[in-house]
Amino acid sequence: MALERTFSIIKPDATRRNLTGQINARLEAVGLRIVAQKRKQLTQTEAKAFYAVHAARPFYNDLVAFMTSGPVVLQVLEGENAVLANREVMGATNPADAAEGTIRKDFAESIEANSVHGSDSPENAAIEIAYFFAGCEITS
Ligand code: CMP
Repeated sequence: MALERTFSIIKPDATRRNLTGQINARLEAVGLRIVAQKRKQLTQTEAKAFYAVHAARPFYNDLVAFMTSGPVVLQVLEGENAVLANREVMGATNPADAAEGTIRKDFAESIEANSVHGSDSPENAAIEIAYFFAGCEITS
């Protein structure tokens, strides 16, 4: 399996509680390398566009409000099978369903304030990475 990249967000509930380092340690412990990272306050426009796929869902407006409620940390992760590896270490979207030892089980506050986002496929990873990072900002 070749090296793969995925896109990750450490969400406002986690930055507010100063959990960036603890979450990064979980990512690195499963072999993911943080090859780009920046802390950013998302604008309404950016959050709406990033989550446009969920625009018809009842939680969309609340999700956009939450994602703009404080700074996020945007990341590109690299490793073997990175998309799947990241989803495994994140755990299920709803922390009530997340497996023991996962980031969401240990840190998430709710299904909305669930501490991290991770791409669900290599195709979406490429789209999400390109939305927030220029190629020259990513260093393997
Ligand atoms: P994420 O992996 O970033 O993808 C979409 C986000 O929408 C998800 O994490 C949650 O933060 C949020 N989300 C998903 N389902 C729900 C839901 N049923 N209610 C509220 N928020 C949700």
